[in-house]
Amino acid sequence: MGYHYSFKDVLARAERISWRVEDIIGGDKTLDFSRPFMPETFARTASLDFLPSEEKRTLNQIRGHAYLTIFGLVEEFILPFVLDHARPYINGEDYRARAFLEFASEEAKHIHLFRMFRQEFAKGFATKCEVIGPPETVAKHVLSHPTLSVALLTLHIEWMTQRHWQESIRDDDKLDPQFKSLLLHHWMEEHQHAQLDTLMVEMIAEGMSPKEIEAGIEGYFALGSFLDEGLKQQTAFDMAALEMATGRTLNPGEKARFMEVQHQANRWTYIGSGMSHPKFLESLGDLSPVKRRMAEMMAPTLS
Ligand SMILES: [Fe+2]
Ligand SMILES: [Fe+2]
Repeated sequence: MGYHYSFKDVLARAERISWRVEDIIGGDKTLDFSRPFMPETFARTASLDFLPSEEKRTLNQIRGHAYLTIFGLVEEFILPFVLDHARPYINGEDYRARAFLEFASEEAKHIHLFRMFRQEFAKGFATKCEVIGPPETVAKHVLSHPTLSVALLTLHIEWMTQRHWQESIRDDDKLDPQFKSLLLHHWMEEHQHAQLDTLMVEMIAEGMSPKEIEAGIEGYFALGSFLDEGLKQQTAFDMAALEMATGRTLNPGEKARFMEVQHQANRWTYIGSGMSHPKFLESLGDLSPVKRRMAEMMAPTLS
């Protein structure tokens, strides 16, 4: 339950964190392409033994590029969603209204940050890396689902970013410090988002019938399957980018192995690590203990 989160506290913390996009990327703040960007938990290049180590690192960087581009992509639907849901709360509780507006403005900043990152990446990486999208089409599809479904997916993403930083990125000294800094600054603000989203899920579900709640959760699972299809496509894009960047042509067996290992790696990165987050499961369980168990049963297939 989100009762321990307060709009006033969330706003106070958000206001204490202040960084500008220009402070952390661009100019002399360049990416170090001699280092990996992603921790191995997500990149999973080690078992692709047909790749020499420098090509594993190239793949790792391709995955890092997709990671921040996909964050940008999801924030393109989170931003209008938060704005729409902040609208009815503008009057009345000042802290609540301001906390939601701050949330929206931070997401707009993150979209900007990730766009700047893509520009920086393109400067240092010789070939083009394709990423799923376009963002407007994805946003349109996601926002066509019930409000509760979108709020749950957003909550999943916010907790996921917390977990990624704390469990896998923070203590990994091999990663490029510049890439890490982007994730650190993003993480700092996302922590407040995760709490606001917890409150938002509760506000949206309040007064809903059990049937409506069920439909909302089903919509969230449907969005998970939609995301999974997108990740399969992303894996194929990453394979093409790797072949292009290294000049290597993978044989059919290597291609099959690549798709299997990397699709699963993407599943854990974007779906499993969010759906199985204890805080996400807590919110889901408050809505429906049965659906929480469903998510828990699905988790091992996404790890
Ligand atoms: Fe964000
Ligand atoms: Fe966020």
